[in-house]
Amino acid sequence: MVADNLVNTERRMLKAMQSQSTKVWALSEILDECDWQDQAIAVGAGLGLADKGMVEISETITTEVRLGVQGQLALSEGLLEARLWDWFKSSDEPSMANIQQAFERHEAGPGIGLLKKLGLVVADGIFVCDNESQVNEAILARQNFLTNLPASVTELDGDMLTHFKNRRNFIEFIDSTTRTWTLTAEGGQIDSSLLIETTMVNEITPELLQSEAWKEAEFRRFDVTLESATPRTGRSHPMQSLIERIRHIFLEMGFSEIVEDYVQTAGWNMDALFIPQDHPAREMQDTFYLDNPQSISLPSDVMDKWSDIHRTGGDTGSTGWGGEFSKETSQMGLLRTHTTVNTIQYLAENPSQPCRMFTVDRVFRKEAIDRTHLPEFHQIEGIIMEEGANLQMLVTTLKTFYEKMGYPEVRVRPAYFPYTEPSLEIEVKWRGKWLELGGAGIFRPEVTEPLGIKHPVLAWGMGLERLAMLVLGLDDIRQLYISDLEWLRNQPLI
Ligand code: PHE
Repeated sequence: MVADNLVNTERRMLKAMQSQSTKVWALSEILDECDWQDQAIAVGAGLGLADKGMVEISETITTEVRLGVQGQLALSEGLLEARLWDWFKSSDEPSMANIQQAFERHEAGPGIGLLKKLGLVVADGIFVCDNESQVNEAILARQNFLTNLPASVTELDGDMLTHFKNRRNFIEFIDSTTRTWTLTAEGGQIDSSLLIETTMVNEITPELLQSEAWKEAEFRRFDVTLESATPRTGRSHPMQSLIERIRHIFLEMGFSEIVEDYVQTAGWNMDALFIPQDHPAREMQDTFYLDNPQSISLPSDVMDKWSDIHRTGGDTGSTGWGGEFSKETSQMGLLRTHTTVNTIQYLAENPSQPCRMFTVDRVFRKEAIDRTHLPEFHQIEGIIMEEGANLQMLVTTLKTFYEKMGYPEVRVRPAYFPYTEPSLEIEVKWRGKWLELGGAGIFRPEVTEPLGIKHPVLAWGMGLERLAMLVLGLDDIRQLYISDLEWLRNQPLI
């Protein structure tokens, strides 16, 4: 055992005790010798030294009896039985009627009771006593008892103690612990020249670390296992944090972000993607069409190309959908139903430059709100356009993304979208179940050729809220947007 294990207060106390190594130290002596005011310091240091086997503590608990409120009153005004007794002795006619004149009701009743126990009797409404000296003595003894308080319980007459214990608030019991400290052999062996007090450091500062002072310093210990209050500071909404995390992942994977408007035309939202104009998803009950702007004009040449493709398949070798193509329908204003409306426009503007783009943004569909549906939600959209881009690359990219999100088990299944071939559904394993999180595929020639897009385009669109439900462990999508403060405060950092 070396003095390094000791804190300053322990060093000081040990050094003090070594000055008289066989002494039994009382608290006041320790305080004097160590020059301390606060007994808690001495007790703490003594405990620390005892833990290390350097001192032995002996504790005795003594119970002291003190005057209570009624006891103090009795001392200053006289015991009730004494006052009644004086009245009895000096009264010409110590009758029941007279006592009620001399004392108030709340005193007369209990007072008579006390005196009766001491030997007073009532005969025909008159008090008599045939052993006055006995009563005198008993009352005197009671008065003495109270006068001599406080005193240790062991020094007091047991019967008297019991008597006053039964009288409300006459006496109080106070336990106190008396400790003494003695040096053990081990404590005596510590070289007193090692018992040097060092500076106590509460806070580590850059200055302290730069100087040499930290080498000699003593550091205040912190108990890191103690419970602490969680500070309630401002923080991002979990959805915002999730979006940030997704952004980081795509940026890390070499993608650039597209940020675009949600007011769009049916032409870019659907026609460009070879979604037939009579497709059920284009109906009013599924899509929010706008009153203002009801129509947004599009360049004729683009619409001509879509018209060609839709009616006949153009030069792509496709047969198209047949039927008529309406440019009016193309120019209808709507709230985008998917973010593919933005990636396709990016490609139309940059048809030959290979790219990797993503967007995380809001889309709108006329859905009834329930546990898994909202009319306003977000998609995580992405494209890769480059020479030789293929299905394997698409699957790997999606797997990488979900792996970085913390979901290493990903699988794809065949699916159908009018604008991709092949088309995939992406599923992620969560708590033992496969959950569908989005769609993907390679854009069809009916989509890429009219826009002059040079290379194959891998594309995907995934639900952000679905992913959030996995990350936050929710079974109701609405929880994300009801601004439940308690819930928001307790969300993990994403
Ligand atoms: N746009 C599709 C949807 O909203 C997802 C998708 C995007 C599918 C790109 C294939 C390619 O569900």
